[in-house]
Amino acid sequence: MAKTLILKVDPENPSTKELERAVDAIKQGKIVAFPTETVYGLGADAFNELACKKIFQAKGRPSDNPLIVHIDSFDMLEKVAHKIPKSAFKFMERLWPGPFTAVLEKKEEIPGVVTAGLSTIAVRMPSHPIAKLLISLSEVPIAAPSANLSGKPSPTTFEHVFEDMNGRADVIIDGGETLFGLESTIIDFTKDPPVLLRPGPLYIEQLKEIGKVTVHEAAKGLKALDRPPSPGMKYRHYAPEKKLILVESKEKLKEVLYETPKAILICSKELAEKLEYSKTIIIGSISNPFSIARNLFKSLREADKIEGEVIIVEGFEEKGVLFSVMNRLRKAASEVIR
Ligand code: TXA
Ligand code: MG
Repeated sequence: MAKTLILKVDPENPSTKELERAVDAIKQGKIVAFPTETVYGLGADAFNELACKKIFQAKGRPSDNPLIVHIDSFDMLEKVAHKIPKSAFKFMERLWPGPFTAVLEKKEEIPGVVTAGLSTIAVRMPSHPIAKLLISLSEVPIAAPSANLSGKPSPTTFEHVFEDMNGRADVIIDGGETLFGLESTIIDFTKDPPVLLRPGPLYIEQLKEIGKVTVHEAAKGLKALDRPPSPGMKYRHYAPEKKLILVESKEKLKEVLYETPKAILICSKELAEKLEYSKTIIIGSISNPFSIARNLFKSLREADKIEGEVIIVEGFEEKGVLFSVMNRLRKAASEVIR
């Protein structure tokens, strides 16, 4: 792979000029890392089979794990999906552009490599100004998984993307830190009633107000599944290099911490104040659950960089966005103590 081009772009007011070289790269079948409101994505022209293959290579992603296709409009939606049920429109109209992905019936024209041979396709209309403009100027839907090496925590800052993708991506756009820090909520509308496959920034409570949706057992992130509803679910995810112990029981946390030599603690501001443990990374505040979601992947990457052998993470009550945080933590954990 040739040298990676770094483009610094204003995340609030990106200009056509700033994005010109990234747009050229997409049009030439190259791969471009770009920020979205959830996490950074690693994108290519969704109609270009060879370009999409490069994404799998760059990430070391198994070819049976399909990509999400990003669009800028309902017009573009028609190019990638068809036979869309009414229930899906209800959600899409309310939640797009935003951190929400719909699994729909795929159009033939989308190459099989994008959807790992499935007849369905995951589609999202992002709200991040850079992502929006990149898609519009490229005039094609952009297939993009998270821009991390396969299995690593998703990237929420330019630095994370650079760490994983320098020398692998053709272009990396530096658009600062992402807003939610957690990947999009995925609902499968090819099932009736629709099924929540991956919880994300949107609360389950919010989703149920929009329309009927059932929560797949996998959404809790509890166990490995023999027949996962989404191919991506069978892989271990988000994992730091160090061993990660998730302690879901409040009573046991202190005990586990002091019995584990060379531990690094990741916990809320509230717990950190109580424990006063020397090697602590504060993930956010219980009083602001979105701060915890936002700093989750960043904290895992940070824990890998500081001295220590084991990472111990506080478990959170599964309410609102913390339900999604627990999904990611359970998947990242090598051990869960209840
Ligand atoms: O917020 C996000 O969704 C970010 C940004 C870049 O948009 N993207 C992202 O992509 O998280 P990725 O590849 O890391 O996760 C995509 C998930 C995988 O678990 C995959 O298995 C699932 O979506 N998926 C893709 N196509 C699917 C399909 N047709 N049916 C079921 N699951 C699908
Ligand atoms: Mg990912």
